[in-house]
Amino acid sequence: MSVQLFEGKQHAAYYHKFRFEPSQEILDLIFSYVDEKLPKPHGLAVDVGCGTGQSTRILSPYFQKVLGTDISEAQIEEAKKVPGSPNVTYSACPAEEVPVGDASVDLLTACAAVHWFDIEKFLKEVDRILKPRGCLAFFSYLPRLEVHYKDCSEQMSQVFSDVESTLAPYQHEKVHHVKTGYKEIFEAIPYTDKRRIESIVTKIPMPLSALIGLIQTFSMFQTYLRTEPEKAKEMIRTVEQRFLQIMGASSTEAVVEVWFHNVLVLACKPQ
Ligand SMILES: C[S@@+](CC[C@H](N)C(=O)[O-])C[C@H]1O[C@@H](n2cnc3c(N)ncnc32)[C@H](O)[C@@H]1O
Repeated sequence: MSVQLFEGKQHAAYYHKFRFEPSQEILDLIFSYVDEKLPKPHGLAVDVGCGTGQSTRILSPYFQKVLGTDISEAQIEEAKKVPGSPNVTYSACPAEEVPVGDASVDLLTACAAVHWFDIEKFLKEVDRILKPRGCLAFFSYLPRLEVHYKDCSEQMSQVFSDVESTLAPYQHEKVHHVKTGYKEIFEAIPYTDKRRIESIVTKIPMPLSALIGLIQTFSMFQTYLRTEPEKAKEMIRTVEQRFLQIMGASSTEAVVEVWFHNVLVLACKPQ
């Protein structure tokens, strides 16, 4: 079954503000894989579960057309507000029913999203829409984030780990796919040409305020907020204070470096 946890307008607004683009390293791996399989120019890329479009717009220089789809109208509304990519369009629809023709897609991506879908139905849909030798790329960062700041990275990462423990009871069971590095999803892909890469670490500098914002985009935080609003808000205040205290900083504009461990699954439909 698919899951809908990203419907709220406030949640979508947080997404728009605090989610970031996929790293160039991941994009390079994806694009060189597509280049190996299909001649240029590449036609259509579809980014499924696109949220507010951070993982969609980045595809626009590499493809003639890009379509971002998401089941949440609120997320698609935010995505459409961002100007500047004339070859990118968006559609609110389930991942299991993508509004494109059979064998029409060069690359299908799902960034931090495939684990939410009905995997069996989705993989059938992927097979319907990919061209022969069309590619899929499913990727996500894994839960174990590291927070680095001067010589107090261990304490900073511990604060983040405490956040994860507080939020663990509010985590949806589908997140186990991410924790296990998409192993089951990888196994379920019906193509023999496929690979799963787990060793990609991306290091993103961001102000502490952005890290606090990122935590608030997590579906498990949003579930906590709905269930225990006062406790959830208090957790954010406490976490911010703990970070600032460890850093010896007075402003959340102080910059930390967040290390994300990622998984990338690539596969190619047979000729
Ligand atoms: C964690 S967000 C990732 C968004 C974006 N790809 C990014 O990297 O910022 C997951 C997205 O998947 C969408 N989603 C969940 N289940 C879906 C489904 N069955 N069909 C389409 N989108 C879905 C959610 O609405 C949400 O926007």
